[in-house]
Amino acid sequence: MPIKKSIVVFCGSLREHSFNGAIARSLAELAPEDMTFTVLDGLESIPHYDADIQASGFPAKVLEIADAIKNAQGVAFVTPEYNYSIPGVLKNAIDWLSRVSPAPFAEKPVVIQTASAGILGGVRAQYHLRQILVFLDAYPMNKPEVMVGSVQSKISADGKLTDEATRDFISNQLAAFSKFIDKMS
Ligand SMILES: Cc1cc2nc3c(=O)[nH]c(=O)nc-3n(C[C@H](O)[C@H](O)[C@H](O)COP(=O)(O)O)c2cc1C
Repeated sequence: MPIKKSIVVFCGSLREHSFNGAIARSLAELAPEDMTFTVLDGLESIPHYDADIQASGFPAKVLEIADAIKNAQGVAFVTPEYNYSIPGVLKNAIDWLSRVSPAPFAEKPVVIQTASAGILGGVRAQYHLRQILVFLDAYPMNKPEVMVGSVQSKISADGKLTDEATRDFISNQLAAFSKFIDKMS
């Protein structure tokens, strides 16, 4: 039995019936057997980044996530595009985590899926996120890229990723990510 690789999953959408949330929850069934996934909750409970709050102590949720990343073999981001960039809730969580020492994202393998209602599937947000990951010194996997366009037509009413082509793209990407983690460790 191969060693399990645990992956911490950030979802950039807070809404209950989020299409990105549906994709985030589908990762486990699409991935190789050696991977497990924990979708983070509570990102909305993190206050806006404020150095004065930091000076009196990091929010508990930030430290909890930093610890989860430290103990994981990889990180996944599943996010919509908001105004050609990443949603504020995700940027805020990243900003907080970037102040934690030791740096939780440093040298951590990262895989990204973006999904949007538009035909480009959030590609502009994905490249903004990749730019941020440079500063964090994370190791985002370059390819295969996954951008899910017209996502509303690919998720069923009960929140399942039903589009076969998209399921195959994500399966292939996660298989590559498992090998990428092996290479990076
Ligand atoms: C504030 C806001 C900004 C958005 N900006 C974009 C955008 O720049 N590009 C895009 O393709 N879709 C954009 N959308 C539409 C989202 O792709 C769509 O709402 C999507 O369903 C959000 O993902 P979710 O279902 O996971 O919440 C935007 C939506 C919101 C609420």
